[in-house]
Amino acid sequence: MQRACISGIGVEVPEHVITNDELVASFNAWVAKENVKREADGLEPLPGSSAEFIEYASGVKTRHVLVPDGILDPDRMTPRIAERPDDQISIMAEFGVAAARKALKHAGVEASEVDMVICSASHQQRPYPAIAIEIQKELGTSGSAFDMSLGCSSAAAGLHMAFNLVRTGAQKRVLVVTPEIITGHLNFRDRQTHFIFGDASSALLVEALEGEEERAGRFEIVDTRTWTQFSNNIRTNFGFLNRAAQEDTSSVPMAGNMIKQVGNRVFKEVTVAGHKFIVDFLDEHGHKPQDIRRFWLHQANARMNAMILKLSFGHEVGQDRAPTVLEELGNTAAAGAIVAMERTHADMKPGEHGLLCAFGAGYSIGGALLRMM
Ligand code: COA
Repeated sequence: MQRACISGIGVEVPEHVITNDELVASFNAWVAKENVKREADGLEPLPGSSAEFIEYASGVKTRHVLVPDGILDPDRMTPRIAERPDDQISIMAEFGVAAARKALKHAGVEASEVDMVICSASHQQRPYPAIAIEIQKELGTSGSAFDMSLGCSSAAAGLHMAFNLVRTGAQKRVLVVTPEIITGHLNFRDRQTHFIFGDASSALLVEALEGEEERAGRFEIVDTRTWTQFSNNIRTNFGFLNRAAQEDTSSVPMAGNMIKQVGNRVFKEVTVAGHKFIVDFLDEHGHKPQDIRRFWLHQANARMNAMILKLSFGHEVGQDRAPTVLEELGNTAAAGAIVAMERTHADMKPGEHGLLCAFGAGYSIGGALLRMM
C-alpha cells in the first residue's frame, strides 16, 4: 500500500458574527408576536429562548454566518441568499473554492496536479451537476470530481475515501472540500436548534507520501475509519420529493422539512458511541487515549466533547489536549473538526499523534489517526 498524507489544510470562516444576545433578541421578538396571535386563538404561549441557557447547554457564544441579511429579522429569520444565474459560480462552490485555494497554497501544490475533488458536506446545494465538478472547473484540477454526504461526519468520511483512493494507487492527489452553509437550512424559529449552527468551509489535500522530509509539519495518515447506525434523532426531510407530496404543487411548505433534532438523545447516544469509537479505533493501532497529543473532535457541544474525553481518559482533559472552536463559531457541521485542526496543530512535534473524530446525523462517526512528520 502507498503511504498517504494530509499535505494541505485550508479553512474559510465568514466575517459576519452573530452573538447569542442578538439571536435571542430576534427569536424572542418573533415569539412575542406569535403569542399575541396564539392568545387570541386560545393557544398556550410559546416559551422564549435565553442566551444564558445557550452558553451553559452548548458552550456556543457566537457564530459566523456567510450571509447575515435576513437572519435576525423576526419577520424572516432566514438568510437572504439571492439565486444566481446558471452561468455564475454557485455560492456553495465559491465557499468551497475559498478553502480549497488555501489548502493548495499550504501544500504548495498546483491545482492541475490534483486528480480528484470530493465535495463532502452535510448539505449539498443541488443534486447535479455536482458541486465538486464546479469546484474542479473553478480551480482547474484534472481528473474527476463527485459529491458525497454523511451529516457532520462528511469531511471525515471524505478523508476516509480520499485516503483509501490514494493508498491503493487509484488517485495521486485528492482534495476533500467541505463548504457548510448550514444557516440556509436551519430553522431559526426552532427553540431547540436555532442557536446551534454557524457557517464555515474547509479543505484537505490528501496525497501520496513520497519523502517525509519534504512534508515536515504535515500529517501522515495512519488510518481512517467510519461507523454508522440509523437514527431519526437528527433529521431533515427536505428533498426532491417534497413537491410530489403536495396536492397543491405551486408552493412547497418548509415547515417540518428543516433540520430537527432530539438534542438530549443525540447528546447521550452519540457520547457513548463516540467514546467507544475512539477507544476501539486507537486500541486497534496499539494506542491508548493518553498517547494522543491532540484530539480534534466534532464541534457541536462543549459539554458533550468533555464527556466523551472523560469517558475515554478516565479523567477530565483540557483545551490543550482537545481544543474547541465552537465557542466562537458554533457548530459548523462537518467543517468544525477540520477548523479546530487547522488552528491548533502547528505546535505539534514530529512523531506526535493527533486524532480527528467527527460525529453527527445518521448517526455517523468518522475518524482519522494522524502522525505529525
Ligand atoms: N432557551 C432556554 N431554554 C431552553 C432552550 C432555549 N433555547 N432550549 C431548551 N430549553 C430548556 C428546555 O425547555 C428544558 O427545560 P425544562 O427542563 O424546564 O423542561 C431544558 O432547557 C433542557 O432541555 P434539553 O433539550 O434537555 O437541553 P439540553 O441540556 O439537552 O441541551 C442541546 C440542548 C441541543 C444544546 C444539547 O442537547 C445538544 O447539544 N445535543 C447534541 C446536539 C448535537 O450534537 N447535534 C449534532 C448535530 S451534528
